[in-house]
Amino acid sequence: MEDNPELFNKYNNVTKRDTAESLKEYAKKIKWRSNARVLDIGSADGSVTSILSTYIPQDYEILLGCDINSNSVKFANAQYGTERMKFFVLDIEKPIPEHLKESFDHVFSFYTLHWLTDPVMGYINIYHLLKPGGECFLVLSGKSPFYDIYHALSLTEKWAPWAKYFDTIVSPYHDCKDPDNIIFKSLKNIGFHHIDVRCKQKVFVYENTDVLKSKIFYILFDVSNCTRVKNLSISKSPRNAIQRKKPFLFHLQKS
Ligand SMILES: C[S@@+](CC[C@H](N)C(=O)[O-])C[C@H]1O[C@@H](n2cnc3c(N)ncnc32)[C@H](O)[C@@H]1O
Repeated sequence: MEDNPELFNKYNNVTKRDTAESLKEYAKKIKWRSNARVLDIGSADGSVTSILSTYIPQDYEILLGCDINSNSVKFANAQYGTERMKFFVLDIEKPIPEHLKESFDHVFSFYTLHWLTDPVMGYINIYHLLKPGGECFLVLSGKSPFYDIYHALSLTEKWAPWAKYFDTIVSPYHDCKDPDNIIFKSLKNIGFHHIDVRCKQKVFVYENTDVLKSKIFYILFDVSNCTRVKNLSISKSPRNAIQRKKPFLFHLQKS
């Protein structure tokens, strides 16, 4: 995933905006620790981690971004890496290395956990990454019209070959009737305390249909890692496209 960090850097204006908006609202509710060790899971190109760095108390010890993709980690270190902000490869679905356990005061993740085969595995690992009493703030995608677009496309002859890729990018909460409750229960079972799960509707207006189509193509290209997608085209629509999506914002504390 995210095999082309340059492209991601160009097209992730939605996650950058949403991250800034959610941190503006929730950063003041976090019980920040002094000299904090902070982790951002799914840091991709590093741009969102860089935004995060402006919202955390500036006496932080270290801000680490991690991602499953080594290309993204390399790009992020080159583009945004500093003495105190670094990026490393980590698969958040796999068992956490011993030296990382209980080593972070604050863990963040933006638009990543819904990409996991099993988000619960990610929540469990976040619990183990946190020091006792540490806090995490997680944003992930629930229902999004993007998934419906991909599903509709996969039913057409032209896009049918990409159907398996469409399946891999659908949020497990996309068709969920009561996702807040399901996520709340998962977190509670793991052992988190002071859990606050909110489903928020966000609207993003693309400047024109070409920009929207670029975004659709970008995700396909990115997921499939195949240049063939770049050359595909879909018919133009005269109206601006509006994307509505419902991300979840979690704010919770480890016991
Ligand atoms: C949609 S991007 C979000 C990037 C960034 N947080 C943002 O908001 O712009 C999702 C990121 O999660 C990463 N990712 C997917 N599965 C992962 C896993 N199992 N462990 C760590 N990172 C993962 C992908 O490589 C990708 O960079």
